[in-house]
Amino acid sequence: MARADSFAANPHWLPPQRTGALDHIPGENGWPVVGNTFKMLADPAKYALGMVAKYGEVYRHVSFGAPNVALLGADANELVLFDRDKVFSSEQGWGPLLNLLFPRGLMLIDFDAHRVHRRTLSVAFKPEPMKLYADALNIGIAERVAAWSGQSLTFYPAVKALTLDLAAVSFLGIPFGPEATRVNQAFVDMVQASIAPIRIPIPGTAMGRGVAGRKYLVEYFGREVPGRRDGDGDDMFSQICRARHEDGSQLSVDEIVDHMNFLMMAAHDTITSSATAMVMMLARNPEWQDRLRDEMLGLGVEGDALPSDRIADLVLTDYAFKETLRMMPPVPSVPRRAIKPFRFRGHDFPAGTQVGVSIAYVHKSAEHWPDPQRFDPMRFSPEVSRDRHKYAWVPFGGGAHMCLGLHFAYLQMKILMWHLLREHRIELAPGSGDRWQAWPIPKPRDGLPLKLVKL
Ligand code: HEM
Repeated sequence: MARADSFAANPHWLPPQRTGALDHIPGENGWPVVGNTFKMLADPAKYALGMVAKYGEVYRHVSFGAPNVALLGADANELVLFDRDKVFSSEQGWGPLLNLLFPRGLMLIDFDAHRVHRRTLSVAFKPEPMKLYADALNIGIAERVAAWSGQSLTFYPAVKALTLDLAAVSFLGIPFGPEATRVNQAFVDMVQASIAPIRIPIPGTAMGRGVAGRKYLVEYFGREVPGRRDGDGDDMFSQICRARHEDGSQLSVDEIVDHMNFLMMAAHDTITSSATAMVMMLARNPEWQDRLRDEMLGLGVEGDALPSDRIADLVLTDYAFKETLRMMPPVPSVPRRAIKPFRFRGHDFPAGTQVGVSIAYVHKSAEHWPDPQRFDPMRFSPEVSRDRHKYAWVPFGGGAHMCLGLHFAYLQMKILMWHLLREHRIELAPGSGDRWQAWPIPKPRDGLPLKLVKL
């Protein structure tokens, strides 16, 4: 049987492009078969800057075994992400990477069907459920930070474990314990497999474990759906089980399983990566730890939890998170496939063109960000951001596929910072975080050793 990520299994995808179809676009093919893949993965922003210096912001190259074009800069982001003329398929862009393990997730559905599903899933992200997630996050994070207090720890794996445990509660409605551990492991195996170089599920390989993990989760979610539909759980899974399309129909069991798998994947490494990056930025800029702490203590909140109606008052934390996402976007680039011919910057592109926009590139462009390597959260104050191009800062994408969980991400990050910073100073170990792995989601090679010093 054809694999779910292949063209053979997806006859509605446009066929692979013939060799030479993009030869009229400036660029290069790089090494045979692999093209420039390894150069690009080592440091996507540096690679893009080098290619732009040679060819300009529109160039052709070969990556992941296929010819594609990079369309860089804020205008290109707007063209592709806003996609006014419905030219760019997200399914056919992401499908070859994600379809094997995360088929039919929201990002893998296009146009009208996507609109219907997005609307239905959005019940789980409305203000009322967000308040309930905030309660669960406050409890889970406070407990974990108390255990970290005064300790030296390696932050990336610690916050990854925390994020998974929190997701078990808020996403799935299962308490910490053996069931949550088993679900989390299955899930981690799937995410690992989605980037594994060996794509055949041989037992003992990452892909073998990933496919077994998917099987476990499909059975787990499938078994749980009937009870969740009839219950009154507040977690994301229960809400999605009870959600109805506009015509009153419910999502099928298979649809719920696919959406849940995708949501867990979309949330987990992105939050882990950005929490780690933010902690590193604050540790390297201690005056910002002080400013955030002063703002928090100035709110006059009684008790240990950050109340959900005070979240919007953490303005400087908001700026600092945004600046972190600018400097280290968890999703460095976004693929699409053109399903119709299009024209951009004087070039004609045929239907079937594989397109990549680079979030990492536009976030470091001096055109929009003076002194782009400097950590300066005040770039996001209303006065400084007023005249900026709307697509110069796109860590959550834009247009129809803009991140559905972005408010959840802000919520978790603000609650995490609230519990970390009010009574602690973050101090990095020497050299900590100096080298990051850029792809698929940025993470520090040393895991970011640090100390949480009690004030
Ligand atoms: C800092 C954290 C996060 C970042 C930087 C991030 C980034 C992104 C980006 C760039 C996209 C768009 C990709 C594209 O257009 O091809 C996206 C889509 C998505 N994200 Fe996030 N994400 C984050 C957290 C989350 C969380 C916490 C959830 C769920 C609770 C989530 C759920 C989704 C979903 C469902 C989509 C697909 C939306 C659609 O296709 O309509 N994300 N995210």
